Amino acid sequence: MINDQKICFSGVQPSGNLTIGNYLGAIRNFSNYSDAYKCFYCVVDQHAITVRQVPAELRRRTYETLALYMACGLDPEKNTLYVQSHVPAHAELGWILNCFTMFGELSRMTQFKDKSSRHADNVNAGLFTYPVLMAADILLYQTDVVPTGVDQKQHVELCRDIAERFNQIYSGTFTVPEPMISQSGKKIMSLAEPTKKMSKSDENPNAVVYILDDKDTIIRKFRRAVTDSDTCVRFAEGKDGINNLMTIYSCFTGKTMEEIEREFDGKGYGDFKTAVGEVCADALAPVQARFAQLLADKAGLEAQMKKGADEASYYARKTLSKVQKKLGFVPVPRG
Ligand code: TRP
Repeated sequence: MINDQKICFSGVQPSGNLTIGNYLGAIRNFSNYSDAYKCFYCVVDQHAITVRQVPAELRRRTYETLALYMACGLDPEKNTLYVQSHVPAHAELGWILNCFTMFGELSRMTQFKDKSSRHADNVNAGLFTYPVLMAADILLYQTDVVPTGVDQKQHVELCRDIAERFNQIYSGTFTVPEPMISQSGKKIMSLAEPTKKMSKSDENPNAVVYILDDKDTIIRKFRRAVTDSDTCVRFAEGKDGINNLMTIYSCFTGKTMEEIEREFDGKGYGDFKTAVGEVCADALAPVQARFAQLLADKAGLEAQMKKGADEASYYARKTLSKVQKKLGFVPVPRG
């Protein structure tokens, strides 16, 4: 608890572009959490280097990720937004927790199995212990809830096991966090293969709409979206493509499926696809404008980064000192 508020923590990779799936399913809702929780959002640059990065791109994306979160409505006055490598306690606790995590546990992580087959030439130890650094991220802040996608659920469960193990040996040290899996994000599907989730790493650029795509691109992608051979805009089993477009339209407009069916009664798929593209582009336009503004003011962005790092360090240090004391580490003798 911080000032009577429960604690919420989430990490975001500074890699790849964020999609409308990320936006509708997660980021857009983050700003609502700050009333109920004390929230920390961390750009995880140290996790990013578990696969090879081009340094200039990693640097650029770190700024961009922070700016994009702010542009999507995360107020840095209400939330702690910062960069992982600015708070060394993450790496320090990460090492300690390595000694409380079993080889067998890490071997069972599906993301490790998946990434090590995709990057077979670079199966480094960091990729293997990735979930331990993630556990350190979460546990440093005595986190109660972790909003994240289903793909990270197994990592949050491992984090709980590590926390419980440590608490059992050294008595209550860490809050044991709960995953908070967003339901709506799961529902945004690829535009090219609507039975598959929309993924930022999809190789087909027409399958994915990015938050930063311009209006023409957005409309073109929606016009090319794969649909069935029916002609009637109707939400029904087997109409995966149309169901997905209706879901997206509904998320952006707040209209129900029945309202959408009525609105497009007698109109074809072409008109509907254009309309989905229009509402999406119009909803993203202010986010994009704000993003450009934030990114143009590098000093302002850096001031936020610094403020976030100072705030995060304060809480992280408290937990780390407690852990070090319990382990038997000798504190640096004072002067
Ligand atoms: N592993 C997460 C992902 O790829 C990112 C992440 C790092 C994270 N540390 C975290 C998410 C802590 C939630 C909490 O999406």
